[in-house]
Amino acid sequence: MQNITLAVAPMEGIMEHTMRSLLSDIGGMDYFVAEFVRVTQYPIPTKSFQRLVPESANQGQTSNHHAVHLQLLGSAPELMAISANNAVKAGATHIDINFGCPTKRVNGHGGGSVLLQQPELLYGIVNAMRTTLPDHIPLSAKIRLGYEDENLLFENVAAIESAGADKLVVHGRTKKDGYKPPARWEKIAKIREISKMTIVANGDIKDANSLRLCHEITGCNEFMIGRAALQNPFVFQEIRASLQEGMSEERPIALADLLTNYHQQLHSSYDDFAKLGRLKQWCGHLRRHFPAIEKQLKELRSCKTTEDFFTALRA
Ligand SMILES: Cc1cc2nc3c(=O)[nH]c(=O)nc-3n(C[C@H](O)[C@H](O)[C@H](O)COP(=O)(O)O)c2cc1C
Repeated sequence: MQNITLAVAPMEGIMEHTMRSLLSDIGGMDYFVAEFVRVTQYPIPTKSFQRLVPESANQGQTSNHHAVHLQLLGSAPELMAISANNAVKAGATHIDINFGCPTKRVNGHGGGSVLLQQPELLYGIVNAMRTTLPDHIPLSAKIRLGYEDENLLFENVAAIESAGADKLVVHGRTKKDGYKPPARWEKIAKIREISKMTIVANGDIKDANSLRLCHEITGCNEFMIGRAALQNPFVFQEIRASLQEGMSEERPIALADLLTNYHQQLHSSYDDFAKLGRLKQWCGHLRRHFPAIEKQLKELRSCKTTEDFFTALRA
């Protein structure tokens, strides 16, 4: 297996600027996709993008030079197109479109995975964005296999491709599946067979072994990893080391120090209580990979201040 590309999945509410910066410093990934920015009644102004995706002001990169793709979610072609162009004015270098979000709140407003029931609207959105974006700005889309079922999968893929998207990330589940395992990688293989777009395999990749298996089944060389990156921030580095791509298996930083850095880098507008909430939230993911966190979780969750949290963590 050669020349693989690894992406960090967008994850609203947790894979934000600070977390991206921490992971980027560890390395191993090629790029990030930022959590969705929702376009509802009005185009998103340039200024808002600079606040929502701060890497925009750094040529769309983390401080450690990993590209950050900016993701938009919405259903009105014109508003999406104007917003995408405003994002580019803010500094975005790659635009991604969210056609996969399963949440009620988002689907109720006609955005995310609910659009997978309307291939012609998918076409309209991608086409409006592609025809107004500068040629040098790549445009990708992220989909699930369908909404209730997979009946429209290939129509959806064809609509997105013929409207001019360069790349398609496929999370191998329908909206109805939620996050129920397993992701259906064999369906991703079928998409790869019929499409000329770069197909990015997503869903349930958690280490080098699952990535190898995903490659065997899908034939993809580009992969996106979400939850496993929260559970094990070293996963990209470990995959590279396992594939002998020149990275050491040795962790560049101890987990406790990583949590300390996270705390220090969390936005200064957060008070201690909000920072503590963020730390506990991340530990809820880390516990799945680190037995020591699992063992301490109850105690960590009972802490009332970040000072108590770090005293308990380092005890
Ligand atoms: C907490 C959470 C938030 C998410 N937010 C987004 C999002 O903003 N945009 C998006 O396209 N997908 C979002 N996703 C889906 C992930 O990007 C990814 O497709 C999914 O988790 C499957 O990949 P995994 O098995 O590697 O986690 C989110 C998933 C989770 C768990």
